[in-house]
Parts: sequence; structure tokens; C-alpha cells
Amino acid sequence: MDLKVGVIGTGAIGIEHIKRINEKVQGAYVTAVSDINVEQAQRLANQIDAVFFETGEELIASPDVAIVVVTSWDPTHEKYVLEAIKHGKYVFCEKPLATDSAGCKRIVDAEVKAGKKLVQVGFMRRYDRGYIELKEAIETKKFGEPLMLHCAHRNPTADENYLTPMAIINTGIHEIDALRWLLQEDYVSAQMILPKQTSFTHEKLHDPQMLILETVSGIHIDLEIFVNCQFGYDIKCDVVCETGEIGLEDPAYTHVKAKGKNYTKIAPDWQTRFVEAYDYEFELWVRSIQTGNLTGPTAWDGYAAAVTMDACGKARDTGERTLIQLPECPALYK
Ligand code: NAI
Repeated sequence: MDLKVGVIGTGAIGIEHIKRINEKVQGAYVTAVSDINVEQAQRLANQIDAVFFETGEELIASPDVAIVVVTSWDPTHEKYVLEAIKHGKYVFCEKPLATDSAGCKRIVDAEVKAGKKLVQVGFMRRYDRGYIELKEAIETKKFGEPLMLHCAHRNPTADENYLTPMAIINTGIHEIDALRWLLQEDYVSAQMILPKQTSFTHEKLHDPQMLILETVSGIHIDLEIFVNCQFGYDIKCDVVCETGEIGLEDPAYTHVKAKGKNYTKIAPDWQTRFVEAYDYEFELWVRSIQTGNLTGPTAWDGYAAAVTMDACGKARDTGERTLIQLPECPALYK
């Protein structure tokens, strides 16, 4: 039987996920929506023949909602995820799981107490074909041990509301999770470097920024985060191993030869660059719930990312290499 989905937060990505669930994913459809922007959410509910709920809590409690998607603003994620756990309902929460590690830990504790994995975090890089191929090469040791990773996360422009800490909290968080998953290793330290700034930034945003992460076995990662690069949405991940290097290609289905040039386009935004990863992420989420075995990024992964994120903030403020320490991973997530 198809799963009834309730979506909390019907902004940009909420609408995309609703379309994805209703039009692409097998085995689920959206029956309920909720948003503090009542007028817009009610209109959307009418369009897709779903029920509108005044609050996320009412939506979660509804017998017409079997599983929950949280795509509201970051500070609201924690309370809705905790509420879903309280009702024993599977919940997909867009990143970040909570705004800090303490909030993520409360979710981990609630899930451990419930004794069942119910939470999946929206770290969709894990569903990208390129990253999956990188992971296979690393796991099979095709080119020996990985030693260093050179990565970049570039956006064409960022607006006035995008501030210095968001380079990690909103942007670098994707790499923080994806690289830990690729290498299957936790981080032990973070260091932040604030290089010469682009003239395209504003007073409250240091752009670009560099993050250096070190893993338990000593692998070093350098990540450039540059959100006003002007030329496109550009993601790089080159893994240097003992006998070879493997890196992400820019996905392109066509190339152009004209006026003496031969080129492919760069994706303009994350929606275009990762559309297939988002589709696959939801397809597998629904399938894993149907089979009763969640396989995606867990609340523990959300917590590990948040601990790293907190360390990056400290490293930026102090200019020092900051140690990262996770408590013992609960058995539920092993
Ligand atoms: P948005 O601002 O377009 O939409 C958020 C919606 O949440 C708005 O409609 C707002 O009215 C609603 N909202 C706020 N507080 C609420 C509450 N208490 N209850 C119910 N609804 C509430 O933002 P956007 O871009 O859609 O992002 C939403 C979330 O998705 C953010 O947490 C963001 O970090 C995450 N995100 C993840 C991405 C990924 O690549 N995995 C990409 C883009 C966003």
C-alpha cells in the first residue's frame, strides 16, 4: 500500500520534494502539508488534493500521515523530528538535523530511547553517481589507500543574508557528511583559513574560506568554500590515493563546438547539479521504509556533522586547529 506523506515547510525545497514524491517516487504520495505561510500552503494543498494543517504537530499526529518530511527553516527541525519520534513515525529531515550538536544529541537520545531508527537526514550527496563511484574505488582499494582529498564547493553568488558562519553551516556541511561517509572515518581536527577576499562579497561574509580536516587515520582534506565565484555551481572532489587519483566529473549530457571553442556547461545551481541524487534519495527512502530497514544518513550522522560544524566555528574564531571528539556511537547506529 502506498505510504501517506506529510510535508512540513512548503518553501523552495519543500515544493520540489512534494513534486518528486507525487510525480517520480513509487509507493508514496503527499496527503498533508503544513507551513506558517498559511495562504501559500493552503493553496498548494488544494492543488495537490492534500489536507492543510495549522501546525506541524497536528500534521504529525494525523492518522492520514504515515511518514513525515521536514523542510521548514533550520531552527524548527529539531522540534518536529522529536515529535515524529514521539509518534513512532519515520521522518526525513532536511539538513541540518538541528542547529547545533546539542540539538542533534537530543534527537539521537530520543531515537535510542525509542529503540528504532526512524530518522533520515537529507545529506543527498551520498546518492550522487559520482560520489558513489568514488566510494566504490576507495572501498575496493583500487588505487591503494586514500591519502589526501582536494575539494571545492562553489556557488555563483550569495545574497546579503548569507553570513560568514553559513559557509560551514549551510554549505560545507554537505562535504563534512559526504567525505566522512566516503572514507568511513571520523574527523579528529578542523582548521579554518580565511584567505584574501573576493571583491564580490559583502561586509558580513568572509569569502572564500578554506577548511582543513584530518581523519582518524591521518587523511587530510582541504575544502574551498567560495560562494561568490560568479561562474556557476561547481563541486570538486579529487581523492589522491597511493597509486592513482580519482575525482568527480562535472555532469554534462551535451557539449558545444562553436566559434572556435569546444565546451560543456557548468550547472547554474544545486537543483540542477544534484537533481538525480535528490530523486534517488527519496526513491530509496520510501523503499527502505517499505522493507523496514532505513539505509540512509542517520541521526548519528547528523550529530557527527554538527559536532564537526561546531569545531569549524571555533577554529574560525580562534584561528587554531581544533580537536574533534565524538562520544561512543550507540549500538543502534553500528
Ligand atoms: P524556504 O525559506 O524556501 O522554505 C522554508 C519554509 O518553511 C517556508 O515556507 C517557511 O514559511 C516554512 N516554515 C518556517 N517555520 C516553520 C514552522 N515552524 N512550521 C512550518 N513551516 C515553517 O527554505 P528552503 O530553501 O526550502 O530550505 C528549507 C530547508 O531545507 C532548510 O533547512 C535548508 O537548510 C534545507 N535545504 C537543503 C538542501 C539540500 O541540498 N539538502 C537544499 C536547500 C535547502
